[in-house]
Amino acid sequence: MSKLRAAACSRRGLQQGAGGEVRLSPRRRRENASSGKGMLPPVSAPQSTYHLFSHSAETEAFRKNLLAWYDKCKRDLPWRKLAASEADPNRRAYAVWVSEVMLQQTQVATVIDYYTRWMQKWPTLQALAEASLEDVNELWAGLGYYSRGKRLQEAAQKVVSELAGQMPRTAEELQKLLPGVGRYTAGAIASISYGQATGVVDGNVIRVLCRVRCIGADSSSPAVADRLWDLANALVDPVRPGDFNQAVMELGATVCTPRAPLCAECPVKHLCRARCRVEKELQLASKRLLGEVASSCPQVPAVEECAAAAAGHCSLCPPAAEPWDSSLGVANFPRRVAKKPPRAERTATCVLERRGPRGESEYLIVQRPSSGLLAGLWEFPSLPLGPGLMEKQQREALLGHIQAWAGDAVARRHLRHVGEVVHIFSHIHQTYVVYSLLLGGEAETASGRQDEELGRPASRWVTQAEFQKSAVSTAMKKVWKACERQSCEGRGPGKGSKRKRGPAPSQASQLTVAADGTLPKRQLSLDAFVKAPTRE
Ligand code: ADE
Repeated sequence: MSKLRAAACSRRGLQQGAGGEVRLSPRRRRENASSGKGMLPPVSAPQSTYHLFSHSAETEAFRKNLLAWYDKCKRDLPWRKLAASEADPNRRAYAVWVSEVMLQQTQVATVIDYYTRWMQKWPTLQALAEASLEDVNELWAGLGYYSRGKRLQEAAQKVVSELAGQMPRTAEELQKLLPGVGRYTAGAIASISYGQATGVVDGNVIRVLCRVRCIGADSSSPAVADRLWDLANALVDPVRPGDFNQAVMELGATVCTPRAPLCAECPVKHLCRARCRVEKELQLASKRLLGEVASSCPQVPAVEECAAAAAGHCSLCPPAAEPWDSSLGVANFPRRVAKKPPRAERTATCVLERRGPRGESEYLIVQRPSSGLLAGLWEFPSLPLGPGLMEKQQREALLGHIQAWAGDAVARRHLRHVGEVVHIFSHIHQTYVVYSLLLGGEAETASGRQDEELGRPASRWVTQAEFQKSAVSTAMKKVWKACERQSCEGRGPGKGSKRKRGPAPSQASQLTVAADGTLPKRQLSLDAFVKAPTRE
């Protein structure tokens, strides 16, 4: 047994028997007996090594093959360059930290540009600590999960003000001392920037580990997650822990992908139990075809199997009710647990436009509260809609809401229905019912007084270019595009530059915007289609 594996076992009070089975140590047995804890299997039940790397040769082969593949195939990413070239440990840890926070929930391809701009703007912890939250939100706009940027900045302020600018030097300390830094981020920073031999577990790592060791139990359960961390800590290469961790993540992201894994290209396929099972199944199928095995034989031939599962009590095998599905192959792992569907919400939003002092179009944006969803971001004036509101009632409610900025005399008939825009947040299926309204002189009356004085959220009028640079969410950019799209449709071929009113609500509501907010057509500015209002 490798030293690391032995250490991991000993931390968990386990011993490995000659046959590879893992047993409880006498001390742990006594503790369990006296505390009555039922977290581990009964002491008499040997636990199968099926879900572990129980032989050091196997562990070594996994590390060696994976690292050789990583050296050859790894993507050239800006944070990797910084981690390799930055001599100062605080700057190095900061560079890795920023990348890891951005990479949580966001694809590598999207992160690259954001990361580059962030590091140019705030190359050090000190620079970030001095930034305004508005600047952080502006740069973060479009990355999603906005609290990440805010928390990163708050934690940087803590390092500067309370830790004398020194980043904690171990995973344990990073997690303990830095707000918002969890087990994964702490492990990633410590292994990549300090070379601490500690594993990491994220979605990609879970997929790789569950496949190589046929772990089909629910990986989101705390008990299974603990076992995956044990496995990651036992496997991590003690000489190149940062590269090893990144290699597992890279493998999960590029080869061992969720739906169509590229097993033929996998550097550790010979160590993958899920792959082994698939190959055995294929062999059996071809033997059956050749008549070498009776076609009625229901079993898969001698594939190594989980001994504990055979005895009916393995906490890492899939539940009996969810047997192996041949059509999925290795994608039988990890087991997909049905997520709670996002709740549906509807919000009316209005793109309010006026002529600025130089005759250019300006649009009103309003700041969201400083906590909760999209905290501190800017949006077009918006109003959550209760269930069952008819179109007319929606319009009335929205008109009432925008009066705060548009003035009492806001012209009902100029409120145009643009369409519906759907945006999925992690837990909310949000439908924006989009309207637009071009103001005449009404806005000046209302905007003469301060927001605070009037007890309303901060607001400002911005040009199109300013809107694009502001701290606005992706959802609001989709709303903008929906209006632009309507302006394109309203100006059909042969109509020259003649302005046309937007479509009637029934037509307009069919307007659809792709999930990523992209629109195929040429885009015009809003004022290209909005007719100048007549005063009521
Ligand atoms: N996902 C999160 N962090 C990563 C990293 N450093 N390399 C590859 N994928 C990652």
